[in-house]
Amino acid sequence: MAPLKVGIAGLGTVGAEVVRLIENEGRTLSARCGRGVRVVAVTARSKVKKRSLDLGGVAWAKDPVALASSEDIDCFVELMGGSGEPALSAVETALKAGKSVVTANKALIAKHGIRLAQAAEKHGGALNFEAAVGAAIPVIKTLREGLAATGINRVYGILNGTCNYILTRMEQEGLSFAECLKDAQRLGYAEANPSFDVDGHDTAQKLAILASLAFGTRVAQNAVYVEGISSIAPEDLRAASDLGYRVKLLGVAMKTAKGIEQRVHPTMVPKSSSIAQVMGVTNAVTIDGDGISPITLVGPGAGGAATASAVLADIADVARGVRVNPFGRPVDRLRATAKAPMERHEGGYYIRLMARDLAGTAATIATRLAEQKISIESIVQRHANGADAEKGLPVPVLLITYATSEDAVHRALAAVQKDKVISGRPQVIRIEKN
Ligand SMILES: NC(=O)c1ccc[n+]([C@@H]2O[C@H](COP(=O)([O-])OP(=O)(O)OC[C@H]3O[C@@H](n4cnc5c(N)ncnc54)[C@H](OP(=O)(O)O)[C@@H]3O)[C@@H](O)[C@H]2O)c1
Repeated sequence: MAPLKVGIAGLGTVGAEVVRLIENEGRTLSARCGRGVRVVAVTARSKVKKRSLDLGGVAWAKDPVALASSEDIDCFVELMGGSGEPALSAVETALKAGKSVVTANKALIAKHGIRLAQAAEKHGGALNFEAAVGAAIPVIKTLREGLAATGINRVYGILNGTCNYILTRMEQEGLSFAECLKDAQRLGYAEANPSFDVDGHDTAQKLAILASLAFGTRVAQNAVYVEGISSIAPEDLRAASDLGYRVKLLGVAMKTAKGIEQRVHPTMVPKSSSIAQVMGVTNAVTIDGDGISPITLVGPGAGGAATASAVLADIADVARGVRVNPFGRPVDRLRATAKAPMERHEGGYYIRLMARDLAGTAATIATRLAEQKISIESIVQRHANGADAEKGLPVPVLLITYATSEDAVHRALAAVQKDKVISGRPQVIRIEKN
């Protein structure tokens, strides 16, 4: 069989590694696919940039759209990034020409995945995006193919290595968020503008894709509730540890009676859970399905080689002639996403209050929680030491609640604040049980 002719747009961290991997693993790929895979054309922003890649015999296309429509390629590989141009037009052009597309672009799939899946379906090409979520972790295939016959109740994970690195260091070394962020930037784990990662938006894009695959709904990034990790203090991580938990930035998508909940926020997970063992830049996803124990996939969620490994697996599927509906079912069978309101989220909560050293404070807090029918699983009151105690400085009160609703917690805490028995804003972290 003739080799699959591939055109690659984007020769950065991932693209360059894909070119190398095709070169180095050509024989293995060919043995596994029953045909060779050949890079015939590439493009990037700059043609003259030094890239330490052997591109001899490979054509340079004048721009990504020209490459996507070239008669010389069978498969267009988009590794430029961004949900706008030129990625969107190039991918759409390739699909409309009946070519298959492989991309690692979560932003593009989260925003335009449905429109692109429609084009793929209509014109017969594949649209593969395994690398867009969890890089080397084969979570898209697991949800779409491995669990095709399993009802999914919940999928959740650590989908951003930068945040997990920061929270791990904060926990292990008692450092502040700002200190760990600075280190992450120095080591190249965080961007100069870290907001996309630490404010949870990167996780939200990936979660929206996983939710669609898990629940057969249209990808809807705007249905994801998002909170980042910048408000987490070392004392929360210490308290979590004392109470048997760790704090992770989780993306959680779950079926509830009120719709599909999609949420990204700092979360306390029991120390004994699989997800709690995942440290540093590593990613992990847990899938709860009907009739099976939870499945947890753990691995590198970023980096050129890790991401290229998933891109190559997608290219291998194209070479083999495998065609799967991009979101696991035809687009017209995907349901609209019913967004479950966050105020109605139900679960356990960790609450940290700075209680004023006044008679009756603890009783007031307990009363306000009881008025909202919130039951307390545990309560710890730290005591001020020496000088702080003499100055009458506020002392932390740490509460773990049994399952209750988010709006009940908000009402109780608003009442406690009105009573003026605490200083500052309460810290609230949701708990996810395994
Ligand atoms: N890096 C990771 O760990 C990772 C992990 C998972 C998924 N991804 C996804 O993989 C994709 C690529 O990421 P990356 O880290 O490889 O990015 P990158 O290092 O910034 O590389 C981007 C490449 O795209 C080219 N490019 C940008 N704009 C272009 C334009 N208008 N026309 C033509 N070429 C253009 C750049 O050209 P020049 O080289 O000439 O500047 C560069 O070669 C993104 O969607 C990203 O989200 C990355």
